[in-house]
Amino acid sequence: MNLMEADTFYSDTYAVETMDTIYSNDYPIYFENSLNELVKFVEQGNYSRFFVLTDENTGKYCLPLLKEKFGSMADFDIIEINAGEESKDIDFCIGVWKMLIDFGADRQSLLINLGGGVISDLGGFVASTFKRGIDFVHVPTTLLSQVDASVGGKTGIDIDSIKNIIGTFTQPKAVFIEYSFIKTLPERQILSGLAEMLKHGLIRDASYWNLLKNSDLKKPAAELIYLSIGIKNKVVIEDPQERGLRKCLNFGHTIGHAVETYSLINDEDPLSHGEAIAIGMICEAYLSYKKTGLTESELAEITEVLSGLYPKYPLKESYNDALYDLMLKDKKNHKEKINCTLLATIGQCSIDHICAKDELFESLAYYSNL
Ligand code: GLY
Repeated sequence: MNLMEADTFYSDTYAVETMDTIYSNDYPIYFENSLNELVKFVEQGNYSRFFVLTDENTGKYCLPLLKEKFGSMADFDIIEINAGEESKDIDFCIGVWKMLIDFGADRQSLLINLGGGVISDLGGFVASTFKRGIDFVHVPTTLLSQVDASVGGKTGIDIDSIKNIIGTFTQPKAVFIEYSFIKTLPERQILSGLAEMLKHGLIRDASYWNLLKNSDLKKPAAELIYLSIGIKNKVVIEDPQERGLRKCLNFGHTIGHAVETYSLINDEDPLSHGEAIAIGMICEAYLSYKKTGLTESELAEITEVLSGLYPKYPLKESYNDALYDLMLKDKKNHKEKINCTLLATIGQCSIDHICAKDELFESLAYYSNL
């Protein structure tokens, strides 16, 4: 089965018979025996050296399996950074560049990014700029990075908590999805990735949304992950540089990123990406109801599903100005106007909607008053 034909099998079952390799912009995304495929990829790749970028969590839980698969080739150099969004900055970036230099990396070296979205974003950025670019692959270990960050070639780092403000579009050479990794994740991390899967249904595929909302979402089946990646992949194949269609993936992210950054700065236990995006999706579904034809019952359905899955965040009116300032810094804006992707209906989105301050505040109030 080719994922490009995926729409045809959503209708009555998610029993995807086989999870064949998906092809993206010139690179494969492996699902079956993916770590064996990684070993094969490295063996056949004619690389002078390869390095694994990881963090302390992944180093503990996932690296041993990788080493086991590499067998006699497992004496590769490891670059380990601290886990968490705080590591996605220029200082860590410089640290990784320096380690590559110290380890003697040359232009024929390969960087294997083993970890979540921080590792794939930072590792992709480091590799895309080191000696004007070396090859890299992603082995995503969180649900969030499997269904989102590892697919589509976005790399980047944050500055002053402004997410992904510096980065490149550079495609990995391959992506290796190992489903067993997500079985090691705490529920909160599963829910974080799930928000992006739900988004994929909302923006592109009502049947996938229906499938998800009737599934055991705290333990998403491999097939659901496969389908989610297929939806995202179709978008990024068509618009790799986010000139138009790819902006649909930003649904929930204009407000969600602002809430995420606000929480990162102010909260002791900050919101996860998915928790913040779920808030963003509720607010932007409200804006869709006001501006782009989403019906009241669809808004109610989206609100019910998302607020049933994610804990309520105590958003206060007094946060509005700070949130607005953060939204103004969003790189998706044009001429200092805040730009949102909204829904026309469940399964269909509409890009480039300028939202005024009072509309944005009204949507935040909708969430607060739930
Ligand atoms: N995470 C949104 C995108 O890849 O475009």
